[in-house]
Amino acid sequence: MVWNIPLVIWAHLSCLCLLPSSHAATTSSPAWQYKKKKGLGCVSSPVASAVTKDSCVVSWKPPASDGGAKIRTYYLEKREKKQTKWISVTTDEIRETVYSVKDLIEGLEYEFRVKCENLGGESEWSEVSEPVIPKSDVPIKAPHFKEELRNLNVKFQANSTQVTWYFGMRQLESNEKYEIKYEDGVATMYVKDVSKSDDGTYRCKVVNDYGEDSSYAELFVKEHPPEFTLPLYNRTAYVGENVRFGVTITVHPEPRLTWYKSGQKIKPGDDDKKYTFESDKGLYQLVINNVTEEDDAEYSIVARNKYGEDSCKAKLTVIPHPPPADATLRPMFKRLLANAECQEDLSPGLRGWQDLIYFLDTSP
Ligand SMILES: *[C@@H]1O[C@H](CO)[C@@H](O)[C@H](O)[C@H]1NC(C)=O
Ligand SMILES: *[C@@H]1O[C@H](CO)[C@@H](O)[C@H](O)[C@H]1NC(C)=O
Ligand SMILES: *[C@@H]1O[C@H](CO)[C@@H](O)[C@H](O)[C@H]1NC(C)=O
Repeated sequence: MVWNIPLVIWAHLSCLCLLPSSHAATTSSPAWQYKKKKGLGCVSSPVASAVTKDSCVVSWKPPASDGGAKIRTYYLEKREKKQTKWISVTTDEIRETVYSVKDLIEGLEYEFRVKCENLGGESEWSEVSEPVIPKSDVPIKAPHFKEELRNLNVKFQANSTQVTWYFGMRQLESNEKYEIKYEDGVATMYVKDVSKSDDGTYRCKVVNDYGEDSSYAELFVKEHPPEFTLPLYNRTAYVGENVRFGVTITVHPEPRLTWYKSGQKIKPGDDDKKYTFESDKGLYQLVINNVTEEDDAEYSIVARNKYGEDSCKAKLTVIPHPPPADATLRPMFKRLLANAECQEDLSPGLRGWQDLIYFLDTSP
């Protein structure tokens, strides 16, 4: 008669996957044997996440059904993987299916298991969790702009990491506007051709095995007109020389440049023999080839972007004839003259003489 009772309890609890009470379990009830053979477990294997250097969050799924008897509490145990001993993580009752485990030791490997209890008794222990190692996580550094290039950098460390960039709510993809890179734990995004519409909040989202995190940066686009960082300066040249005028200028936003001679626009293609235009990353040059007295004029350059313009000007003075050579410098002339003759395939006598004057003029 006595052993019929656990049998009844078991019949009630079977869908709950709970064992009969510990007293019942010691009997030789057929139901008990049946249960043992099936190896029914009640609670899913716990999962540890949000690992820090001394804590982690362990969660699990409740039993599919409580079988009419409410789950009263869960029991969560931890074990250092190299040890055999299981230790309860808390003496408190755990009513939720998640628990924040504290006081772990950095560098050790921990496993977890969980069981539940209701009026009918306790379940079996769940399967053991995947081990975790508490360690210092390198926090995500907030993105920061590198001013000149308008690029955002974020530094963090983790394997199997996915990085996603957002501008407001919009996810960004690598294209001609955005260049997205992730190398050596540094995620970088370049915003190209920055304009006022790029103003706003940028978000870098990082997802790895342990969870996800986001960081934000604000971009304020300053609307500024171009500015000459190296302006034109007055020049003197001799007839036949090539004169190179150069300026450097801020390139964000990229300016359009126009050269003028005495207020008249010099357009590329107007006189290809006379003028050569060169530009490279903020350095803009105008070469006036084989100057004549007609090139004696004021030259100016205007740089414009959508926010404004800047200009500068300089005088080119063309001197028709070389001055008489200075006797004290005569030995040096010879060397320069020889060099000039080697380099030029023009009338050696005259060209050589002009180059010589030129060198004298520029290297006092
Ligand atoms: C990242 O992966 C490398 C090689 O797979 C491994 O040596 C390293 O320990 C891993 N680092 C982290 C933080 O998991
Ligand atoms: C330079 O200009 C002079 C006068 O216009 C001309 O005679 C000479 O051929 C030109 N030289 C070159 C290299 O263009
Ligand atoms: C350049 O030449 C112009 C015209 O001759 C003159 O007004 C100006 O002061 C000169 N600039 C410099 C920096 O010498």
